[in-house]
Amino acid sequence: VVVRRIDGYERFVRPVAFRLDPERSHSLVRPYLALHRGGARARRAVSSPLLRSTVAGLALRNPIGLAAGFDKNARMFDRIGELGFGYVTVGTIVPAPRTGNPRPRVIRYPDENALGNCMGLPSDGLQVVAARLSRRRNRATPLIGNIEGPAVDDYLRCHAAIAPWVDAIEVSLRCPNVIDADTDVTSPAGFERLMQALGSRCEHPFFVKIPTYDSESERAERMELADIAKRYGASGVTIAGSFVRDEPRLSIGRGNVSGAPALSRNLRFVSDLHDLFDGQLAIKSLGGIATGHDAYRAIAAGASTVELLTAFVYRGPAVAVKIAEELTSILEREGVSSLDELRGTAPATTADDA
Ligand SMILES: Cc1cc2nc3c(=O)[nH]c(=O)nc-3n(C[C@H](O)[C@H](O)[C@H](O)COP(=O)(O)O)c2cc1C
Repeated sequence: VVVRRIDGYERFVRPVAFRLDPERSHSLVRPYLALHRGGARARRAVSSPLLRSTVAGLALRNPIGLAAGFDKNARMFDRIGELGFGYVTVGTIVPAPRTGNPRPRVIRYPDENALGNCMGLPSDGLQVVAARLSRRRNRATPLIGNIEGPAVDDYLRCHAAIAPWVDAIEVSLRCPNVIDADTDVTSPAGFERLMQALGSRCEHPFFVKIPTYDSESERAERMELADIAKRYGASGVTIAGSFVRDEPRLSIGRGNVSGAPALSRNLRFVSDLHDLFDGQLAIKSLGGIATGHDAYRAIAAGASTVELLTAFVYRGPAVAVKIAEELTSILEREGVSSLDELRGTAPATTADDA
C-alpha cells in the first residue's frame, strides 16, 4: 500500500480552489504555475532510470503523460513540461474556433475523486493554436497534438498545420459532448477512410483515442477500430477512459465522468488490447490514473504509458512527481528493473477488480 503524503496543494490550495467554479479554478492554473517550482528532488524523481522507456519512437524520461483537455488551446504546454510529465498533450485542436456547450459544463464529484464534464470542445481554433505551438520553447518534453475533425478534410488540415511543432499526433474521434456534429468517422467504414487519408501523410508517430466500452458488441467494435488503426500505421491507441452519466447540474443534462470511477474500464481495455495485439500497438492508459499503484497496474496489464487529467485537479501540479516517486518505490520493492520487464505481466483477469 502506498501512503499518500498530504502536501501543500492538497491541504491548502485545493480547498480554496474547490470553492470556485471548476472552470474558474482552471483559469487560475496558468498564474499558479508561474509560482510553482519543483526542486532538485522532484527532478530526480521524474528522471529515475527505472522509469525510462521508448514508446512509438519517443524517448520518455517517465511514462506519466498529461492528457488532452487540460491545455486545450496550447497556452501552458511549455510550463507543464517542466512539472515532470514524461510527455504533454495539447488540444483537442479543431479547425475553427468553437464556443462549446453552455455553462455549467464541468462539475466535481469530490467523494469519488472524479469530474463530470460536457465541455463540447470549446477551442480557440487551429490558426490561433498553431501560432502558439510555433513558439514552443521546451523541446525536452515530447509534445503530442490532439486533433479532431469532424470531417476527414478537417483532420488533414489540423494535422498539416500542427505537424511542424509537435512530436506526435493523437486522433480524437467524435467527442460525445458535441451534439451538433454529424460525422461518421467513428463507424469502422468511416474510420477506415480517415486512417487511409491520414496514415499516408503522417510522418510522426500517431495514436488514435478510442472510447471504452460497456457491452460485448461495443468491445468488438473498439477492437476493430484499433485493428484498422494498426493496419494504416498507427503507433498506438489512447484509451478515452471516461463514461457518460446523467447529471442535471450540467447544462445538457449529462456529462462524461472522469477520474477514479473510470479506472476499471480503462484497465479492462488495456488488458484486452494487450491480449489481442501482443505488444504490436502501444497502449496509452487513460482514465482514473492517480497514483503510482494505478500506473503499476496499468503497465502490468500491458500499457506503454499512463496519462491523466482529473488527478491533476485532485493532486496538484506535482502530480507527475508524486506518481513517479510512488511508482519507483513499488518497482524497487517488487524487484522490477524496467518498465519493459513489467509490461504485460499481470493476467488479464486482475484488471477487472479495480
Ligand atoms: C474538463 C475536461 C475536458 C476534457 N477535454 C478533452 C478534450 O478536449 N479532448 C480530449 O480528447 N479529451 C478531453 N478530456 C478527456 C480526458 O483527456 C480523459 O480522456 C478523461 O478525462 C479520462 O482521464 P482522467 O480520468 O485521468 O481524467 C477532457 C476531460 C475533462 C475532465
